[in-house]
Amino acid sequence: MNRVRILLVLLCVAAAIFAGLLAWRVGALGGRSGGPGQVSATGTAAIGGPFTLTDQDGKPVTEAALKGRWSAVFFGFTYCPDVCPGTLQALKAAAGQIGDKTEKLQVVFISVDPERDTPQQMKDYLEAMDLPVKTIGMTGTPEQVAAAAKAYRAYYKKNGEGEGYLVDHSTAIYLMNPQGQFDRVLAYGMTPDQMAVQLNQAIK
Ligand code: NI
Repeated sequence: MNRVRILLVLLCVAAAIFAGLLAWRVGALGGRSGGPGQVSATGTAAIGGPFTLTDQDGKPVTEAALKGRWSAVFFGFTYCPDVCPGTLQALKAAAGQIGDKTEKLQVVFISVDPERDTPQQMKDYLEAMDLPVKTIGMTGTPEQVAAAAKAYRAYYKKNGEGEGYLVDHSTAIYLMNPQGQFDRVLAYGMTPDQMAVQLNQAIK
């Protein structure tokens, strides 16, 4: 073999390895069938995907519940002393500023505390919050909740012992479009006015 042939062989081997790695990476990220495009052009995994949980009426609920409306999805728990009530109050105030677009929006509150957040507890809590938009509370088994949080890249961790424990959790609100695909984050700390601007921009 001359040098050119050796170089060509090496190039082919390198290309094959690269193609293999690429296929493996796409497969690892996009392996869940049927979900909305998990892989973008940059190879970044998208937020969202399949889940199976239980709604506040005790009925099974999946990602299909996100179809047909814009969804403000966030993770938290009903015993949360600050972040979750604050988030719901901000969403409530923002929803009050978007007029008829509330008909195209729903809030999806997914519990990261399945131990205490029974469907009935979710129902009572959300009814007390009394948002001017359709609101779905979701909980489930610890495994179901973990899978849903993973799909949304949401973080949570039990903090403390005994009945009064807390659950640390990520605070982002994920705005999903009516096809159930990620549109944008509404960051915790946004004022209701800022949230309303984002909602008005997104919802046509
Ligand atoms: Ni919270």
